[in-house]
Amino acid sequence: MTEIRRLGILTGGGDAPGLNAVIRAAVRAAERLGVETLGIFDGFEGLLERRFRPFSSATVRDLLAKGGTVLGTSNRCNPFSFPLPDGTRIDRSVEVLDHAAEAGLDALLVIGGDGSLQIARLLADKGLRLIGVPKTIDNDLAATDYTFGFWTAIEVATYALDRLRDTAESHHRVMILEVMGRDAGWIALHAGLAGGADVILIPEIPYRIETVEAQVEERAARGQAYSIVVVAEGAKPVGGVPAVKVADAGDGHPRLGGAGDRLAAELAPRIEHEIRVTVLGHLQRGGSPVPYDRILATRFGQRAAELAAQGRFGRMVCLRGSQVADVPLAEAVAVQKLVDPAGELVTAARGIGVGFGD
Ligand code: F6P
Repeated sequence: MTEIRRLGILTGGGDAPGLNAVIRAAVRAAERLGVETLGIFDGFEGLLERRFRPFSSATVRDLLAKGGTVLGTSNRCNPFSFPLPDGTRIDRSVEVLDHAAEAGLDALLVIGGDGSLQIARLLADKGLRLIGVPKTIDNDLAATDYTFGFWTAIEVATYALDRLRDTAESHHRVMILEVMGRDAGWIALHAGLAGGADVILIPEIPYRIETVEAQVEERAARGQAYSIVVVAEGAKPVGGVPAVKVADAGDGHPRLGGAGDRLAAELAPRIEHEIRVTVLGHLQRGGSPVPYDRILATRFGQRAAELAAQGRFGRMVCLRGSQVADVPLAEAVAVQKLVDPAGELVTAARGIGVGFGD
C-alpha cells in the first residue's frame, strides 16, 4: 500500500450544495487514516498562487449543512490554458506540479464538475496523484447515477413551482419557470414532475411553439385557465439553438440564459393568457443541502479519502445504483449523461398528460 502523509483538497467549477459536506467527510476520514489535509483555496488558482491552509476536524466543524464551499472555487482557471491580461493564454501546469510538491502534497483530491475533472485527468497524466469527486447540480456525468447538489436544486425548483401555481391560478396566467442544467434537462424534468408542471421543455426534446400553444389551449378548453411551464435553460426550438447570454463565460463554454423570455415572446402572440417568466438562476445552487445530498456528499468524501490512503490514484468516486464505487478518471469525464427522450421518466410524464412541446 502506498503511504501518503498529506492530501490536498480543492473545489473547482461552479459550487453545488454539499461541497462543504464532502470537504468535512474527507478531512475527518483522512485524519482517522493518519493522513494530514491541506485546504487549497479557489480551485486550481490556489495551487498556482500558493493559497493553502492546513485543515483538521476542528476546521471542518459545522460544515455539514452549510451551502457553498469554504475553500472557494473558480471556473476561470485552467492551468493548461491560463488567461493573461492581453487575452493570450499560456500553459502553467508545471507550476501546479511544482507547487504541489513544494507543499509536500502526496496526493490531491479534486471535487469538481466535468471541466475541473478534465483538468485533473491531464494533471494525472503529468504525474500528479489524483482522486476525483464528481460535483454538479446538473447531474449530467455519465459515470455516476447521481451527483450531490442535484436534489437540493430539485427541491428549490419544486417549491418555486408550488408558489407559481398559486399565483398562476389566481390570475389565469401562463407561468414559465426557467431552470438551470446546461445541455441536460434533468433539473427541468425532475422539478417539472415534482411540481406538477403542465409542459416541460428540455434540450433533449426540441419543441415546436405551435405544440406548446396547443397544450396550453387544450388545458383552457378543459377549464384549466392557467398553465405551468418549466423550461430548461438549454431548451431549444426544433432546428434552433439554446438561448445564450454570453458566448464564452471564461471557461470555454457559453453562459446560457433567456430560454424563458424567448419562449414567452414566441407564445404571447398566440394565446390570450398573460404570461410571466421567472428565472430561478443561482437560487438553485445556494443554500443548505437536502439530507440526500448531505449523505451522498459524506459517502463520496469518505471514500475519496480512503482511495487516497490506499494509493488508488487516478480514480473518481461515483454512485452505482445504491453503492458508492469508483471508476478511472479518464472514463469518468468521457461521457455526458443526457435525458433519454424515450426513457421511463419522460414516458411516465407523457403518460399522465405532461406535454414536452414536440
Ligand atoms: O453547471 C452548473 C451550472 O449551474 C449550470 O446549470 C449553469 O448553466 C451554470 O453552472 C451557470 O454558471 P455560472 O455560475 O458561471 O453562471
